[in-house]
Formats: sequence, structure tokens, C-alpha cells
Amino acid sequence: MKIIEDISEMQSLAGSARGAGTAITLVPTMGFLHAGHEELLRVARGKAGFLILSIFVNPAQFGPNEDYKTYPRDMDADIKVALSSGVDCVFAPRPEEMYPDGFQTYTQVERLSMGLCGEARPGHFKGVATVVLKLFNIVMPHVAVFGKKDYQQFVLIRRMVRDLNLDVEVVGVETVRESDGLAMSSRNSYLDADERKAAVCIPRALDEARSALSGEDAQAVIRMVKKNIENEPLAVIEYIKVCDKDTLQALDRIEAGAMLLLAVRIGKTRLIDNCLFTG
Ligand code: PAJ
Repeated sequence: MKIIEDISEMQSLAGSARGAGTAITLVPTMGFLHAGHEELLRVARGKAGFLILSIFVNPAQFGPNEDYKTYPRDMDADIKVALSSGVDCVFAPRPEEMYPDGFQTYTQVERLSMGLCGEARPGHFKGVATVVLKLFNIVMPHVAVFGKKDYQQFVLIRRMVRDLNLDVEVVGVETVRESDGLAMSSRNSYLDADERKAAVCIPRALDEARSALSGEDAQAVIRMVKKNIENEPLAVIEYIKVCDKDTLQALDRIEAGAMLLLAVRIGKTRLIDNCLFTG
């Protein structure tokens, strides 16, 4: 397994793999890998001739008062996961090379970045779209794999690929959960024991919401989820919305393709989750 930091080295290796007709698959991450990332790598391994895992805590997607500095990092553990997941190459660029002095070109997916997480985190999705586009240009993947836990991010990347005619197939992977249902996240490591117990209110509320039937009033379902989460004193709701799964526009009623998305703070930790209605 190769470990590459230099952008030019990554570009020339990817260029030769492409030239040799090898299918390149990219799994972009910010590291501190968990079973959710491993599942992305498993799906990606099945599609790839050459599997590249990128590890880069992207400063451009963190707001000034967010956790860029304290975001968990463990390169040695990540390399072990990469080895056991059959990764061919880890690309871990240096921030100074990704964003050199004078950097000023950004990508923005307009409407899809406005609501939901975009409201509380202005500029976040501009940072995400920009770094993903840069990674695509450097790694030149045929396929890129993303998790649906970060659902707005997944839809937005898919839109960017269509809008900018990028020759990349975007694959989405279902959310991997802990045994009590909490969606896996690198940020779960911020939770202390009481907060970790409290966080289970999120998957529980989603489980109840999932049974909502087609035609039900979206606001009534939102009220039910809100009530369930508010029963947990440590939880503070940021948003709960019912949206169309492709446009992310708010819906009045539960219908095919309706999705509930939420963000909740448990102490200082911001957690997101979602569920698709099937009823
Ligand atoms: P990160 O939070 O490290 O997540 C990397 C990828 O893993 C994303 O596609 C995310 O949706 C997926 N993922 C995280 N938790 C998951 C879970 N429990 N189940 C399934 N997939 C999960 O998302 C980012 O990094 C960054 O924004 C990035 C796309 C790398 C751009 O910087």
C-alpha cells in the first residue's frame, strides 16, 4: 500500500493507473476511521481496480468557531484500517499544499447548500464541494463513494458532478450504526458516558418516525420526533425537517421519496441523522 502526501505524486500515479485502463475508486474521508468508513471501503473495493482512500481534515469546511483544531486525528490507526480494507493507496495531502497562500477559487452548489446543515454552518458546503472537486482533479477517480449519513453532502456532490460534467460515478452507502442505533461518526468520540447514553434518543425517535404512513402531515411527524428528542434533557434540537430526497425541498406530507433529516446537539457535540420513509 502506498502512502502519498504530495499532490503531484498522487496525480502522476492516478494518471498512469488511468492510462493503463485501471478503474480508480476514491473514498474521501477526514480520517479517524470507524466502521462506517470501513463499509464505504468495502463497497469501494468491490468496484475498484485501484482503491484510493483520502484522509484530509479540510480546513475550508469548518467555520471559525468550529472544531477544526480539535477534530480527532489518528493516522497510525487509520493506516491499519486502510491495510485491512485492501486500500491500494492512502492520499493524505498537507493543508499548506491543498490551500497555498493566495488560494481563492471555490465551488458552490447553490440551492442544495442553503437549508438544513447549511443554515447553521454557513460556508460549510462550499468548503466540502471545493475539496471534493480538488480531490477528484488530483485522484481522477472513475467512482467515488460517499455515506448517506451526511445526506445533504451526498446529494450536493451528486449535483456538482452533474452540473460540472465530471466523469465520476457517485455511489451512496447506507448509514452504519452502533448496536443501539446511533449513527457512527468520528465526532461520537467527543461524547462523555452520559452524553453517549443520551444520544440514543436520536435513532429511537427516527425509528418511531419511520412508521409514518404515506399521506401523513409532515408537521405532525416532526412534532412527534421533536417531543421524543426533547424528553432527553441533554439534547438540543437544531433542526428537524421532512424533505424530498433529491431536491431537499420541504414537503407538507409524507410521500414516496420523503426523508426526515435532523441535527441535534448533545452537549457540545453536533450529531446528524436521517431516515427515508417507506410507508
Ligand atoms: P468524514 O466525516 O470523515 O466522512 C467520510 C465519508 O464517510 C462520508 O462520505 C460520510 O458520509 C461517510 N460516513 C461517515 N459516517 C458514516 C456512517 N455511520 N455510515 C456510512 N457512511 C458514513 O464527510 C466527510 O468526512 C468530509 O466532508 C469529506 C467528504 C471527506 C470532505 O472533506
